[in-house]
This record gives sequence, C-alpha cells and structure tokens, in this order.
Amino acid sequence: MSGRSIREAIRHKRNGGHLDAEDIRSFVTGVVRRSIPDYQASAMLMAIYFRGMSDPELATLTAAMIESGERLSIPSTVPKVDKHSTGGVGDKVSIALAPLVASCGVTVPMMSGRGLGHTGGTLDKLESIRGLRTALSPKEFGRIATRHGAIIAGQSDRIVPADRILYALRDSTATVSSIPLISSSIMSKKLVEGLDALVLDIKVGSGAFMETTEDARLLAETMVGIGRSHGVTTRALLTAMDQPLGREVGNANEVAEAIAVLRGKGPTDLALLVRTLGVHMLEAAGVDSPAHRIDRSLESGAGLAKLAGMIKAQGGDPRVVEQPERLPGAAHARRIRTTEGGYVTSIDARGIGLAAMSLGAGRQTMEDRIDHGVGITLSAKVGDEVRRSDVLATLRFNDPGLATRASDLVERAYVIGALAPDVRPLILETVS
Ligand code: URA
Repeated sequence: MSGRSIREAIRHKRNGGHLDAEDIRSFVTGVVRRSIPDYQASAMLMAIYFRGMSDPELATLTAAMIESGERLSIPSTVPKVDKHSTGGVGDKVSIALAPLVASCGVTVPMMSGRGLGHTGGTLDKLESIRGLRTALSPKEFGRIATRHGAIIAGQSDRIVPADRILYALRDSTATVSSIPLISSSIMSKKLVEGLDALVLDIKVGSGAFMETTEDARLLAETMVGIGRSHGVTTRALLTAMDQPLGREVGNANEVAEAIAVLRGKGPTDLALLVRTLGVHMLEAAGVDSPAHRIDRSLESGAGLAKLAGMIKAQGGDPRVVEQPERLPGAAHARRIRTTEGGYVTSIDARGIGLAAMSLGAGRQTMEDRIDHGVGITLSAKVGDEVRRSDVLATLRFNDPGLATRASDLVERAYVIGALAPDVRPLILETVS
C-alpha cells in the first residue's frame, strides 16, 4: 500500500506510474465525500486520460465506483443478464430485447439512460407510453425485476454516485473520450445490477461515439476485460451505425417499431440485431438452445406479452402493445423527395439524429423537454434504388417553425449515386 496523498497520486499517474488499490479507492471515496476538490479530481482524470490504466487499475476503479453507492438487490432463481449499447440513431433495441429475452426464462434488470444531442435515449422513448415511470427507487427496481423478469428504468442517485460526479467533471474538462474512463463508467453501472452475464453492443460509424472499428474494438476489449475481472460472462458485438437503425427515429414512433419487431414485423436490420443480441444474451447466461427459444418467443407472442407486463408493472398503459395508435403522434407531416434517381449510397446517421432533435424529439441540454410524438420515418435506406421524386423520408412535427431546418438536415443526410453501394454487414465482429 502506497499511502500516497492525492497530490502525490496525481503526480505518480502523470509520470506514467501505476496506481495501487489504496490510491484508487481513496480517490473515489474522496470524490464522493467531496474531500477531494474538483481541481484535483480533474487533474487526476486528465492524468488518466493521457496515461491510460492497466487492467488491474481498471478492475479496482470499477469496483470502487460500484462501492461508492447502494448495490441493487435483485433476488432471482434464474440467471440475470443485461445488454448495453453505446448508443446510436434509431436504436430502440432495448425496448424489444429486454422483454423478449426475459420471456425465454432469464431476468433482465436493465438500467438505461436519457438521450442528449443526436442520439436518443431509451428512457425518453419509453416515456412516450402514458403513465410509464422510469424513476424508481432501487427497492422498487429490484421488486419489479424479480417479479416480472424485465424492467427498464433510470439510474437512481443512490447507485454509483461516483460516476455522476466524475462524468460531470469529465464533461467540463474534455476528458470524456478516454477508453478507461468510458469503460469504468459504463461497466460500474452495469455490474452494480449483480449480473451473471452481459452483452455489449458497441456501435461503430458516423452516428456513433466510436467512429472507427479499431477504437470500437479497443473499447470492447477493455469492457469485456472488466466484466471478466468481476466474474461476469461478458461479450461484445461491434455493430455498424453508418445509417439509422430501423426506419423510425424519434420517440413514440420508435416504441411502435420495437413493438412491431416483437410481432415479427419489424424492419430487417432492427429485427436481425434484436435476435442476434438476444441469442448472445441467452448463450452468455448459459441457457440451452438460445436461438430456438428466441424464435419460439417471437412466434408465440411471449415477448410481446412480457413487454405488456413490463409496461403495466412500471405504471404505463399496456394497451399500446395491441394498439400502438394510442401512442402520441404529431399534427403535421412533410415528405422529403429525391430530386434525382439512382441508389441511396449513404444516410448520415448523425444528420438524421440532429434533424429529429431539431423537431423536438431530442434535447440539447438536460433541461430541454421532449415532444414524444414528433420524429422521422425513413422510406429509403442505404442500397435502395429510387426514382426521381420518390419519398426518401417523412418528417412529423407539431411546430411548423421547426420543419425547415429539419428538412434541410434530412436532405443533406441522403446521398444518391448512380451505382449500387457496397453495404457493410450490420454485425461486424464479436469480442469475448
Ligand atoms: N456513457 C457512459 O455511461 N459513460 C461514459 O463515459 C460514456 C458514455
């Protein structure tokens, strides 16, 4: 044990040294108790940003972050398994996946987040359902997870408080984009659920946090390593986020699309990703015949019934599952047409995400309010052949004053070319 002061620990890390368990635990405890001032915490984050962290340092940092708050208690006689996505445009996977996998005989206690900027958040999407509550105490979260097998809710202030403080400091000191800091942040919030298995969906491409496969692979390997060091079977899929996932981008329209997947009617890319992640989750949890179980749940409607049960348990109106038209809609629609024929060669996911945000579907600051009924439907996806004046996308909005900027963004996001493009596969790699 070093017995180093915070000042000495910062200097040690700055010079490329290895922090021992006592350094790391004192740092996290000091940050949460506020005995370490923000300027020293920020200096340590910057030292980590430049010097990185070894596997043992990361395992200890993640453990210390988990121990900074309450642990979730989710008694379960069956394996507990979760999925985390690094976020993308049109990513409504969790809303279909959590109930689908739970209907195959495991517990899925999913803590999820809100959207900020061009990517949406699962909690915001779910809150399109009238009455549904995502702010639950740790006790209530555990009770619903145990009783119903599936839950998707937000993170209480009492869970991993160290991450909230460190993330805010990272945000204001340009130290968010550090692989060790991202990995420990995400993994602490997942491992606190007391999981048996975890599957990570690491998005790669123009609409994602990680723009290159190399960066995404490194993040995946780091997170899988942390999971392993905590005794949790962890695997990661690298998946393409070059264009939005599915055809709907917004909130209520994304919930409706997730419901369609559970009816076997969702768009091909989304349905493939939900099924693939579901099979990996069951396999990682040690469940036999995972593919057969997922297909049976889709065919029998067991996944859909589980979604209705989950919505009801969280106070929402479960009738949306049978009647998605009960979800909020928008007063106006505007079609965006192509001015030339050819093939859709790319759709900038970020541009579409920003367009949806500008209609009111997302927020620029955490205080912004979401308009759940607005969004964008993509009629043409990459590789589709289009003729002059075919509809590429439809904007749905309530405030006509917002539609012009959104139309411009959507028009610019679509690239039409003379030749059919090579479309890379959706599932790029598995890391385990
Ligand atoms: N999401 C998180 O939860 N933490 C990060 O550091 C980055 C993305």
